[in-house]
Amino acid sequence: MLDLTGKVAFVAGAGSVADGWGNGRATAVLLARQGARVFGTDSSEEALAGTSAMMNAEGLENWLGRRTDMTASEEVREAVDDCIRHFGRIDILVNNVGGSAPGDPVSLSEEDWDKQIDRNLKTAFLGCKHVLPHMERQFQADGKGGAIVNISSIASMSYQVGGRVHVGYAASKAGLESFSRATAIAYVRRGVRVNTVVVGMMDTPLVSHRLTKQLGVGSAEELVAKRNALVPIGRMGNAWDVANAVVFLASDEAAYITATQLVVDGGVTAGRPGAIENN
Ligand SMILES: NC(=O)c1ccc[n+]([C@@H]2O[C@H](COP(=O)([O-])OP(=O)(O)OC[C@H]3O[C@@H](n4cnc5c(N)ncnc54)[C@H](O)[C@@H]3O)[C@@H](O)[C@H]2O)c1
Repeated sequence: MLDLTGKVAFVAGAGSVADGWGNGRATAVLLARQGARVFGTDSSEEALAGTSAMMNAEGLENWLGRRTDMTASEEVREAVDDCIRHFGRIDILVNNVGGSAPGDPVSLSEEDWDKQIDRNLKTAFLGCKHVLPHMERQFQADGKGGAIVNISSIASMSYQVGGRVHVGYAASKAGLESFSRATAIAYVRRGVRVNTVVVGMMDTPLVSHRLTKQLGVGSAEELVAKRNALVPIGRMGNAWDVANAVVFLASDEAAYITATQLVVDGGVTAGRPGAIENN
């Protein structure tokens, strides 16, 4: 089950904003544990070094990281070429780069709006633009195309009154899901599957590092307790919950699954803890 031996994975955003397990880092390591050779990009050398350290600690040698800004087309093309040079092919593409900036249409600057679209949507567009031709060529050569998994957020479809407002993030992640479905259908006869993992509230380094500051909460512990209470299952998820979903969608076990979303949110978008207690 979920054996990725012989496959090559390209993970965009394979680092983590701080020490520990971000979604991209956990995904890169899990893909490698399952037997894939993994090429990771990140805009931060330090974040990539952290992932290399985790790979080394587990003796996972088929890993290569390259500093790349996934919003810059030429850099993405060079990274894809580098991956092909080293590993010969790309079977799996994970577009994990993303992050939110707070603001409503009035308070969010035009510049930050553009940055949100670039970071959450253009990165996936450019990943697909440069990887898809290789997957299509592979499909024509040996019948093995590829699988693309894009990382979205429940911010695309769930809004809490009095909660965090981030219209640029919500719009760009909703756009990412639509982009995924449209690309899936465009390539459905060309050997490429495209799916999206829609991520709920995760206890990743991003929460303690960035959100504690942005949300003006006293401590990371306070923020974690607040967010745990909002999840029907009783706790936030973690990067491994995301990584497990990605590995499944990327694997041959998901061969008949394309153009869909897998929501990994502990039930947040379907219900609230209060609703469960009242039953
Ligand atoms: N953590 C959560 O609670 C949560 C919830 C929903 C969705 N998500 C999504 O999961 C994904 C990853 O989240 P995370 O918590 O692991 O975040 P993270 O910030 O720890 O990891 C993202 C990585 O991408 C890198 N990156 C940023 N901009 C880049 C660029 N232009 N080019 C290349 N690399 C770049 C960062 O350096 C970082 O290492 C994002 O798409 C995010 O929107 C996270």
